[in-house]
Amino acid sequence: MADIERHSFDVLVVGAGGAGLRAAIAAHDAGAKVGIVCKSLLGKAHTVMAEGGIAAAMANVWKEDNWKVHFRDTMRGGKMLNHWRMAQLHAQEAPDRVRELEEWGALFDRTPDGLISQRDFGGHRYARLAHVGDRTGLELIRTLQQRAVALGIEVFMEATITRLLKDGDRIAGAFGYWRESGRFVAFEAPSVVLATGGIGKSYKVTSNSWEYTGDGHALALEAGASLVNMEFVQFHPTGMVWPPSVKGILVTESVRGDGGVLRNSEGRRFMFDYIPEFFKAETADSEEEADRWYEDKTNNRRPPELLPRDEVARAINAEVKAGRGSPHGGVFLDIASRRTPEYIRRRLPSMYHQFKELADVDITAEPMEVGPTCHYVMGGVAVDPDTGESAVQGLYAAGEVAGGMHGANRLGGNSLSDLLVFGRRTGLNAAYAAARLKQRPAISEDDVRAASEHALAPFGIEGGENPYTVQHDLQEVMHNLVGIIRTAGEMEQALTDLASLRERITRLSVEGHRQYNPGWHLALDLRNMLRVSECIARAALERTESRGGHTRDDFPATDDSWGKINLHCRLDGEAVGVTHEPLPQMPDDLRELFN
Ligand code: FUM
Repeated sequence: MADIERHSFDVLVVGAGGAGLRAAIAAHDAGAKVGIVCKSLLGKAHTVMAEGGIAAAMANVWKEDNWKVHFRDTMRGGKMLNHWRMAQLHAQEAPDRVRELEEWGALFDRTPDGLISQRDFGGHRYARLAHVGDRTGLELIRTLQQRAVALGIEVFMEATITRLLKDGDRIAGAFGYWRESGRFVAFEAPSVVLATGGIGKSYKVTSNSWEYTGDGHALALEAGASLVNMEFVQFHPTGMVWPPSVKGILVTESVRGDGGVLRNSEGRRFMFDYIPEFFKAETADSEEEADRWYEDKTNNRRPPELLPRDEVARAINAEVKAGRGSPHGGVFLDIASRRTPEYIRRRLPSMYHQFKELADVDITAEPMEVGPTCHYVMGGVAVDPDTGESAVQGLYAAGEVAGGMHGANRLGGNSLSDLLVFGRRTGLNAAYAAARLKQRPAISEDDVRAASEHALAPFGIEGGENPYTVQHDLQEVMHNLVGIIRTAGEMEQALTDLASLRERITRLSVEGHRQYNPGWHLALDLRNMLRVSECIARAALERTESRGGHTRDDFPATDDSWGKINLHCRLDGEAVGVTHEPLPQMPDDLRELFN
């Protein structure tokens, strides 16, 4: 144990996407000594997949917009299961976070008056997404990364955290390994911020890349925190479906925000057939009315293609199932017949290149083939809305790994604003808490030894299971049995299959040695993927209604009594337990906004 590399920080941030970088900058500005550990290269994060923009009621394009309208849209998009206080802080603080990003060097597209331009997106009453073409997440990461580096914040790239370390009931640090050398590293820190993103790699078709294996979710659970809203998984309606090698890659919602429409194999603009009662009053019911909305928002009836994502994904799924899909199992997304080639190339440069290079499709001349792709998990670590602290003292979470903000469904564009608002809040509070401590917690050598033995276990088994086969089987289970449309029978089957996979991962074996060994890395990631998948399946089986990113074929209606309950997952030994907890009570002045 003595030769394990060691570091000491006031605040350790795990993850270097937008939330992690923003938290690290805030903690540094509050005077803390900060370290960032990230599994991948700095700048490579799912944040870049939020292409279309940052939602913030800046009122640059529509002066009628304000935080209350944004708050209301967010709560309605989340089918009222959001933590109201998070949604309030998010709507109130997002505009300042965007302006601050601009001060730090982000180059946003402009309105003719020279203000930051804002575009339309699903579920938003007004055009409110500040954007940089269709590369907004990339510009956000570039800006934050540059700032973090300029501030001298220490970054540990290509290092994976496998355990959180505690001193009694509180956090004391984290343990992990360098991916390149396989050598271990221990961090001592009284405040640890999880900013590890999502869980998409548990699904077969996803916009997430290899890093997103639910690490922060599982680490928090194992440290004693609870996960809230895990039954809600977002399938972005438009991922690429062809060729197979690029299946799941995101096709930004900006295509629809900028006027693109969805058609089935019969050429029908089918979203008019799928307007739910909940959004009827605010959805256009004719093509003419829908098209007018881009210029005239007075009657608040947006095109049905701009319904929240859960609605659009279900509609696409139903069209394909009914035999009206495209040749490769999706539907058609058409912007070519609706906007000029110059407009498309200017507003959607990445989409233009993505389709040209990956699918040999010219989107200025032909429709794209698209279908749902697992994009985001609404569920995450239950945190205090103001500080980002979990139930475990010293353990914080921000961004996708934190739960509560988006309820049953996230509106597009609300993730970049979420990670800026709560990244900053969490970083500040983690730093303040570390500064207030009279005595720093200590890491126990026994815990470090146990963590290293746990990490090395797959090397001790010969002729066992292959991690790649187990991952493939897990993705099949989640895709087929806990996907967009769910039933009790299928989820019970999924839980049986997950139990057998849990047993199989105790027999994983890896070949070779510790130096850059992807099979070993996956063997460790699989533990997290299975924990999180079990939480999703258990919570989804428990919620006997349909709402947002959770659709039950056997309980198709939204049930008011479930609208008062959040489900929390906790670990009891190795078992995942699910409890019902009442929604936090919204104050009357905010409640009135929904009358
Ligand atoms: O479609 C998109 O550009 C994704 C945005 C988001 O997930 O917020």
